[in-house]
Amino acid sequence: MKFTIVSMITAAGLLVAGSALATDMPAVAKKNNCVACHAIDKKVVGPSWADVAKKYKGDAGAAAHLDEKISKGGKGVWGPMPMPPNPKITAEERKELVDFILGL
Ligand code: HEC
Repeated sequence: MKFTIVSMITAAGLLVAGSALATDMPAVAKKNNCVACHAIDKKVVGPSWADVAKKYKGDAGAAAHLDEKISKGGKGVWGPMPMPPNPKITAEERKELVDFILGL
């Protein structure tokens, strides 16, 4: 019995440690404030990026679509809430973000 409780606590501890070690938002997402509306694994204002990766898995046009979406914003893919445009973001930063998101 004692053993069971101890191993359960250990397992719970490992789960918590595991999620803390899970992928964090990249610096480029923090810098461009994507983190205000997005998280990797849960919906905030916008969809979770893991869901975005899942939705576009195997879609050859995904990178171009997402690049344009990050630059110009838009709505209607995930719901009525619009994603704002990011006129100042560079093409390089967009590529870094798209690669990161689709690689999740
Ligand atoms: C003000 C909140 C907000 C901010 C800031 C924001 N987003 Fe979004 N994002 C949204 C919403 C809302 C949607 C869903 C839009 C839709 O349904 O078409 C979305 C959708 C997306 C999608 C999926 C697009 C699609 O067509 O499937 C990606 C990728 C994305 N955002 C990336 C980013 C990145 C990268 C940044 C930072 C440069 C960012 N977002 C900043 C709210 C935001």
